[in-house]
Amino acid sequence: MHPAERFVGSIDQGTTSTRFLIFNRDGEPVASNQVEFRQIYPHPGWHEHDPLELVTSVETCIETAVRDFEAQGHARTSIACVGITNQRETTVVWDHETGEPLHNAIVWTDTRSQTIVTELKQRPGAAALQSLCGLPLSTYSSATKLLWMLAHVPKVKAAFDRGTLAFGTVDAWLVYRLNGGAAANVFVSDSTNASRTMFVNLESLAYDDTLLDFFGIKGKVHLPRIVPSSDPRAYGTIASGALAEIPITGCLGDQSSALVGQKGFSPGMAKNTYGTGCFLLYNVGEKPVISKHGLLATVAYDFGGKPVYALEGNIAVAGSGVKFLQNNLDFFQDSTEVNDLALSVEDNGGCIFVTAFSGLFAPYWIDDAKGTLFGITQYTQKGHIARATLEAACFQTKAILDAMEKDSGKALSELAVDGGMSNSDLAMQTQADLISIPVYRPQMRETTALGAAIAAGLAVGIWRNFAELRDINRAGGAVFEPQATREESAAKFGEWEKAVRMSRGWVG
Ligand code: G3P
Repeated sequence: MHPAERFVGSIDQGTTSTRFLIFNRDGEPVASNQVEFRQIYPHPGWHEHDPLELVTSVETCIETAVRDFEAQGHARTSIACVGITNQRETTVVWDHETGEPLHNAIVWTDTRSQTIVTELKQRPGAAALQSLCGLPLSTYSSATKLLWMLAHVPKVKAAFDRGTLAFGTVDAWLVYRLNGGAAANVFVSDSTNASRTMFVNLESLAYDDTLLDFFGIKGKVHLPRIVPSSDPRAYGTIASGALAEIPITGCLGDQSSALVGQKGFSPGMAKNTYGTGCFLLYNVGEKPVISKHGLLATVAYDFGGKPVYALEGNIAVAGSGVKFLQNNLDFFQDSTEVNDLALSVEDNGGCIFVTAFSGLFAPYWIDDAKGTLFGITQYTQKGHIARATLEAACFQTKAILDAMEKDSGKALSELAVDGGMSNSDLAMQTQADLISIPVYRPQMRETTALGAAIAAGLAVGIWRNFAELRDINRAGGAVFEPQATREESAAKFGEWEKAVRMSRGWVG
């Protein structure tokens, strides 16, 4: 079949929903489906997903999108391959012999391992971890979530003692189950996902004995084999359903995937994705840069040659702040209404919302910060709080860019954006004003799914090189030019920094 008649499927398993999209060779989505699944919050600060429900959500999306694809006159056999992109760090454990999950997945936002983190930070060797794996010790990475399960879930501890405990991030779990589970036992993880566990050496992209020893799991847990993000064979084939026998040939953690989808292939390029959280990745080239200013070092993508690295700034709450206004405070029925509500007032009316529902991530790393709304008076309307919620992600992005400039010694000239909140013109204008550089928003915002499709397509020759991707999603984007002066932005940012300092230390 001619490459132009072949399509690529992309599974995007995110924090609050799962999607499946089918892209043509021009990078245009021709069919898609999205489903939400249960968010389980057993206690304040805890956040879980049912691993089997994640798999079902993927299968449902595939069946529905493929039906639509066929209704348009395409044959399912024209889908040459499938890529996977996923929420990162979320930790899944299962029995290596039976393939059955042993606990709900602990989601990346979950802060229950805070006491474990405090204890680990006192141990000898703790200070050296970040230079090996690129990540600070915090509740965010998978390692401390696994330790929590070992300490608190008897079934997990029993499997550990028996030697049948399998650990994986969501990519590994999906690949394993889509291949048919224990029977096929395809147990792999791509470098971008594996590098988020704290078990992997960032330079060698292999499990590191020092790290495994530090966390006490060396030789005791089945860990997925680490493979490149784009590979024609390593990920196996889908065992059943509408895409039975179609190979999985690409896999990227969702933030890496968005960078690839934005075609951030050159050092100095950056993207910011406003999803459930908000994640800024800055391509630093073929050598990792260990941050001295509160950022993470991570793998941008690994397409089989030399891996490419990124500096990352992560914000725990962006779209989830908007969902909070919708679900917990009943501000609106649909999250797209946040833009209009925020526009119903002229400014934030003096409100600053430090949306520290999971503490504060980069560049602050304040585990004990709590969500705090400052500046409320009788004058305050819902619109002010909606504005303050959007602004919170923009302020943190500004803090991350400042840190990135210090780490890299270079200032960014433009920020590419995507993700749900980037649909808000108000939020993107606010962002440009705060960071004093233009914000570029592409027309087609499914860049996360596109990135996994690119990884999968490169593995089987749908595209042969980056040059062939050049024209994908280039036309029709929007540019938001800064309209505020640097002095105005600095004054606003100063208020935010004060609010951050005041959000600490509440024990309730
Ligand atoms: O590190 C967590 C991140 O991968 C989650 O992304 O898009 O689900 O907020 P998202």
